[in-house]
Amino acid sequence: MKKVMWAVLAAGLLNSNAFAYDQADRIKDMQSMEKAMSEIQKGILYNDKKTVLDGVEKLRKSAFSVEITPKSTMEFSGSFAKRKSDNIKKYADKIEENIKSGHKHGAARHYSNVLGECISCHNKIRKWN
Ligand code: HEC
Repeated sequence: MKKVMWAVLAAGLLNSNAFAYDQADRIKDMQSMEKAMSEIQKGILYNDKKTVLDGVEKLRKSAFSVEITPKSTMEFSGSFAKRKSDNIKKYADKIEENIKSGHKHGAARHYSNVLGECISCHNKIRKWN
């Protein structure tokens, strides 16, 4: 009996929230990425490596979410989103490498590359145009 109850509970969870990544989740992750980007910029400007590295870590953590794309409601494809997510993570690594070796210009260049990835997707959002 207990087993059945658990199965019913688990099925309920699966159907409701556990795997349903919705608009509210997306907005939350987008806002986390925005905060991470601000932190990176701040760290570069204040010459504070730790702040840059913390920002990079946060950016990596939330960047995965970019590739979760419920096709029916999105204006871009899953493969496009996956590419953007991979690029963001790749440029995040570059920011890290550059700031660790004291190259602020290099870090700033890759920061700008990340921003480019954000914008290239945002440009596809119809209601934003
Ligand atoms: C593959 C697509 C995609 C990429 C890449 C992407 N975003 Fe977004 N972003 C969205 C979508 C979709 C929304 C929601 C737009 C809406 O419905 O209002 C959004 C919204 C936002 C918002 C507004 C949140 C709010 O409160 O309304 C911010 C801030 C944001 N993104 C930051 C970023 C940052 C920073 C990056 C890059 C590091 C990024 N996004 C990359 C698709 C993307």
